[in-house]
Order: sequence, then structure tokens, then C-alpha cells
Amino acid sequence: MSHRYESAAAWREVDAYFTEALVSEDAALAAARESSARTTMPDAEVAANQGALLGLLTKIAGARRVLEFGTLAGYSTIWFARAVGPAGKVVTLELEESNAAVARANLAHAEVLDRVDLIVGQAATSAQGLIDAGTEPFDLVFIDADKPSNPLYLDAALRLTRPGAVIVIDNVVRDGAVVAPDTGDPRVEGVRAVTATIGADADLEATALQTVGVKGWDGLIVARRV
Ligand code: DHB
Ligand code: MG
Repeated sequence: MSHRYESAAAWREVDAYFTEALVSEDAALAAARESSARTTMPDAEVAANQGALLGLLTKIAGARRVLEFGTLAGYSTIWFARAVGPAGKVVTLELEESNAAVARANLAHAEVLDRVDLIVGQAATSAQGLIDAGTEPFDLVFIDADKPSNPLYLDAALRLTRPGAVIVIDNVVRDGAVVAPDTGDPRVEGVRAVTATIGADADLEATALQTVGVKGWDGLIVARRV
């Protein structure tokens, strides 16, 4: 039996195998994925098996309130909204009104719009608004917006969560760029800064995993407030 390594085609094939076997992406999720072409960042949504992981983490954590930085077409938002259930709430922050319009239609199609608050504007500003309003703490935060702002988003997440809350950060590997010398790329700097902050914070326990698949070579940080 032959094995293929370091092949993007093989990664896609394995993703297809497990997604077909284990993950049901229904018509609403499929439509949300396809609609990503009409957003400012086509193909940036998580893969189906990653969306399923986010939903599982939400359920495993017993999360009822989820905060998401970066909505785009609302693909991961649908996974979270389904995972928190009808009594739960997802607050999702999106910079672009045009993306928010796409997301609203997808959330309505998925019949979860009633349990989602979509706030349009700079995510750091919107998060500060939630802090100022004394918003009820969140149980899980997904940071998946502009990467240079990752440290700001983590800071807001720590102010908006309860002890025991889960924080997930997407796209922390980016083809290995995270360890490339002298990139000068503010997205890479944002990932390194947030990683260093988490590592130095005794109130956060965390790990990071690399992933390969339909989204290429990337990875995510999973952290938990002690
Ligand atoms: C990019 C951002 C994402 O959140 C993602 O999942 C993939 C790509 C990007 O900035 O290109
Ligand atoms: Mg992402």
C-alpha cells in the first residue's frame, strides 16, 4: 500500500473521506459556503470538518453564549448557532455591511437568525461596546477576523468571558509562516503576539494544532480560561 505525503491533493481526499463519512453539511450550510464567493474574502470560511469541530467544542463545553470575531458569510456562525440550541445566543462581529447582508440571508435560510446578533463595524469597537454594556459573559469565543488585531480580540475576549470559557483562534499557522524569520507581515505578527500573550498568561491553558486539508496547511489555538 502506498502513502502520499505533503500532497495537497491527498489532504483534500482525506478531508472528503471523513467529511462524507462523519459530517453532514445540509443545504443551508452548503449554500452558505457557496455564498462566500459574494463576500470580500472568498474561501476564508472554515472547512466542513472544522465547522463540525467548532460545533462539537461548543456542545462539549456546554456553551450557551458564543462570541465570534469575523462573520463573513456566516458559515461558522451557523455551526455555532445550531450547537448552542434554541435557547442559546451567538454574537458575531463583522466589519463589512455587504458581508453581513450575505450572512443574514444564510442565517435565515438555516433558521437560526433569531438566536444570532450580528453587529456590523470594527470588531474591536463592537467588542468594547459589549464590554461597556456589561454584556452577560460568553462561554466560547472564536477569533477569526483580521489577523493583526488578534491581540486586541484576545484582550476583549478575556473581558467578555467567564472562567472556564473556551477561546479558539483560527489561522495561526498559514503555511508555516508563523515560524518564518523576518516576515514583516502584520498578520504573522498578530499571531505571534497573541501566542506569546497566551503563553505568558497563567490564567489561560492552551495548545495549538496544525491542520491540513481542503484549506491547505494551517492551524488553530484552543485555550481555556482557568
Ligand atoms: C484568511 C483569513 C481566514 O480567517 C481564513 O480562515 C483564511 C484566510 C485570510 O486572511 O486570507
Ligand atoms: Mg479563518
